[in-house]
Parts: sequence; C-alpha cells; structure tokens
Amino acid sequence: MSIAALAPAEPGISGPISMAIDVHAVSHRFSLTGSQLPVIETLDLSIAPGDFVALLGPSGCGKSTLLRLIAGLERPTSGSILADGRPITRPDPSRGLVFQDPTLFPWASVWKYVATGLEARGRLREEHERVDSALALVGLEAFADAYPHQLSGGMAQRASLARALVNDPALLLLDEPLGKLDSLTRLTLQAELVGLWQRNGFTALLVTHDVEEALLLSSRVIVLSDRPAHIKAEFRFDKPYPRHRDDPDLVTLRRSILATLGLPT
Ligand SMILES: Nc1ncnc2c1ncn2[C@@H]1O[C@H](COP(=O)(O)OP(=O)(O)OP(=O)(O)O)[C@@H](O)[C@H]1O
Ligand SMILES: [Mg+2]
Repeated sequence: MSIAALAPAEPGISGPISMAIDVHAVSHRFSLTGSQLPVIETLDLSIAPGDFVALLGPSGCGKSTLLRLIAGLERPTSGSILADGRPITRPDPSRGLVFQDPTLFPWASVWKYVATGLEARGRLREEHERVDSALALVGLEAFADAYPHQLSGGMAQRASLARALVNDPALLLLDEPLGKLDSLTRLTLQAELVGLWQRNGFTALLVTHDVEEALLLSSRVIVLSDRPAHIKAEFRFDKPYPRHRDDPDLVTLRRSILATLGLPT
C-alpha cells in the first residue's frame, strides 16, 4: 500500500460522508434498431450509508446501465432511484462514477483532467487545492503535470479515481475500475481502495468480474441474473480488513458465488 493510502485525510477532502441509495422496482429498456431491449427488470436494491457493495453478473447483463442510472446519466424506464430519500434526476458531484473505460484527455495534464469537475462548476479558483489533495490521495502528486501518454495503465486508473474523489463524493460508483490492470497493480489498488473507503467514509458500489476482488473489498456481494438483470442472489461477508484471499471463509463463499454464476468452482 502506498504512503498516500496510509496518510491521514488530506486537507480539502473532508470526511466521512456517505449516502443511502434505494432502487425501487427499476426496469430499464433501450431502443435498439427499432425494437426494445429490456436490460433491467424490476430490480430492488437498498444500500446503507457507508456500505461497500459489489455487483457481479454475466457480461452484458446491465451492470454498467445500473451504475449509469444511479449516477443520474440515464432515467429509468420505470421505477425510482433515491439518494438519501430524494429522487435522482441528473448527475451530481456527490455521486462519483469511475467509468469502465476511462479516457483521459490527450491535451490535458493529469492536474487539468482531475480539475474538470470543479472547473465546470466554476469552483476551481477557490478550491484548486482540492485537486492536489485528490492527487495525493491516489499517490499521483508527482505526476500532476504529466500527460496521458506519459502514464501507465495503473496511473491512468488512479487519475480517473482522483477525478471522482476531487468532488468528495458521498457515493463512489466504480465500474470495473481495476479490470484491465496487471495482477500486481490490481492487488495494490484493491488495498488502496479499501484504505480510501475506510478513511473517507463514502458509500461504495463496485462492479467487478472478479469474485475474489468482490470478497476482498465488500461486505455485500450482489449477483445479477442474465439480461434483463434482476437480483439472483446476495452474499454477506463481514470480515475485518485487510482480508486474505486464502481465508477459508472467503474461499468457501467464493465457491458458492461461482456456482451461482454458473462458473466452474
Ligand atoms: N445506450 C445504449 N443503447 C442501446 N443499448 C444499450 C445502451 N447501453 C447499453 N446497451 C445494451 O444494454 C445491455 C447491457 O449493457 P451494460 O453495458 O449495462 O452491460 P454490463 O453488464 O455492464 O456488461 P459488461 O460486463 O460487458 O461491461 C447490453 O446488451 C448493451 O448492448
Ligand atoms: Mg459494463
């Protein structure tokens, strides 16, 4: 784990703050070449403030769509989604989304990229130190002036995490943020994510394809069905952190989850 993950909370990034999410009977369809594609079917999910929840499910079942709905980037076809009891109608900086395939801007330095949210809200002048704080949180302070082509894959992921953290989100939506990283970088960032979550106190919803990652990071693992997605099963895992991949309880639960997903155990 890096020094950044162990350091006390940075000035400018306050915490802990968290958010409750209630997904009520949400269904969602897309129009695709003239026909309707049902992607989510009557899904109910309540997440308590400060929870770390993982979402697993087959490719194409609707995980990213669910995150986009909670982020407010799409409106559900039916049903409602509440953040702290209020309907979500549009994106809000209190709900940070780290995209499945983050694209940094080739023309912008890491600092500028992380600053875009503050800049869009006209807050950059007064709150520019938040950018430095967010970069420090992910261990990228020495690369503030670097451009995307000068970063490794892991550093680009850290930059997109900092871009969400700069707004001090009460909810962090993470769409396979570590999916394309090598296993060593992945292990480091998994530990750092837990550190950030423990220190900042936000609610976290993580989409992952990796059952072990879900169990190393979260206390609730939700398994979604094939499209249209509904909740197929839920597993609770209340072990203290740091967790170990060879913990017998984790190994047993991993087998049950793989079986639920219809995968070899
Ligand atoms: N804007 C869109 N318009 C039409 N169809 C869409 C749109 N976005 C997603 N879809 C469709 O919705 C379904 C679910 O997509 P989604 O990206 O949510 O899946 P996913 O579970 O995140 O998959 P993966 O694990 O591969 O990332 C897919 O069939 C996809 O083609
Ligand atoms: Mg996806």
